[in-house]
Amino acid sequence: MPRPQEWEFAHISCSVGAGQDRTAPVGAEEISWMTPCAVEVCGLCKSYRLGARIVQALRGVDLSVQVGEVFGLLGPNGAGKTTLVKIISRLITPDRGTVALFGTRDYATGDLGVVLEGNRNLQWRMTPLENLVYYAVLRGLPISESRQRAKALLSRFGLQDWMGVPVQKLSRGMQQKVAIAASVIHNPKLLILDEPTLGLDVGAVEETKELIREIGGEGTTILLCSHDLEVVSSLCSRVVVINEGAVIAQGSPSELARAWSQSRDTVVVEFDGLSSEDVSALTAAGVTASDNAAGLTLSAPIGDRAAVKRLLEFAAAMSERIRTIRQVEASLRDAVLELMARPARFGNGGRER
Ligand SMILES: Nc1ncnc2c1ncn2[C@@H]1O[C@H](COP(=O)(O)OP(=O)(O)OP(=O)(O)O)[C@@H](O)[C@H]1O
Ligand SMILES: [Mg+2]
Repeated sequence: MPRPQEWEFAHISCSVGAGQDRTAPVGAEEISWMTPCAVEVCGLCKSYRLGARIVQALRGVDLSVQVGEVFGLLGPNGAGKTTLVKIISRLITPDRGTVALFGTRDYATGDLGVVLEGNRNLQWRMTPLENLVYYAVLRGLPISESRQRAKALLSRFGLQDWMGVPVQKLSRGMQQKVAIAASVIHNPKLLILDEPTLGLDVGAVEETKELIREIGGEGTTILLCSHDLEVVSSLCSRVVVINEGAVIAQGSPSELARAWSQSRDTVVVEFDGLSSEDVSALTAAGVTASDNAAGLTLSAPIGDRAAVKRLLEFAAAMSERIRTIRQVEASLRDAVLELMARPARFGNGGRER
């Protein structure tokens, strides 16, 4: 049983909003209706010694992941993402700070499934079936149930014809599927995936995304680190961006894109070519014009209704000259680039914008 103090702490800390006093006393009756977060990280710090140097990998990270959420961790190489997930997985210990899972700091790692970055999540000489049975038994499942579950899971992941082939002879995409299957063999409540699509071809990325979506759809909370922003955008309901060991932004992918991207949701029309008078009249109305080898591109931010109206009216009148017409959305990629260009403010716990 979790110790009451920790149980309360986790409930209180995950339920306070930005700017509220995290230490304010809250009566048990006030918190009894609250659902604990799946993951609640408070003030996490971790440094490594590298010879004479000390590397500050985490500098006071706070974050909370709701139950059932697919939550993304973004950040450049060396930001501290893997350090964070290793601490949550209890593979390394933090210098300071706390982690609570599902309302307790006293959590069992049996509630976790973890696929770490790289390809060392499996026993390479063993087959997928042997791997899954091995990890299921390690997690405490009886051998007969382990075999049953392993076969069902491998079939569901499309690996029924590869169950008996040593993992080292499988493609990278298949190995990754086996690693994910092994991580969920015991039905964990929280699945941690560190770079699950790294090195996979387009088809394998799509299959892996689909598996993650399915596992999330069954109610498993997922914490996902990835540099693949398309994967993050399509799977995660919320993300935090970490830079130099500190959370520097958080929100849904589209909130982050809108808040931080220099690009805006825009209507873009490409023409074969236009008279300079037409272009001048349009730019005076707030439309942006840019010449390129293919022709002339006119764009208007969707927020500027007058400019959009002017551009679309013009396009309707000049429709025979239109090459393409499309809507461009503010991109998460631009937002992340913008965030990376800013100096990290250490330990600020992240900013919503
Ligand atoms: N075992 C270690 N010993 C020393 N330094 C380490 C160790 N592990 C990580 N670091 C350092 O800690 C910092 C954070 O590394 P970490 O692997 O957590 O980053 P990351 O965000 O996962 O990066 P990537 O996107 O490249 O996977 C880096 O500066 C890294 O060099
Ligand atoms: Mg990493």
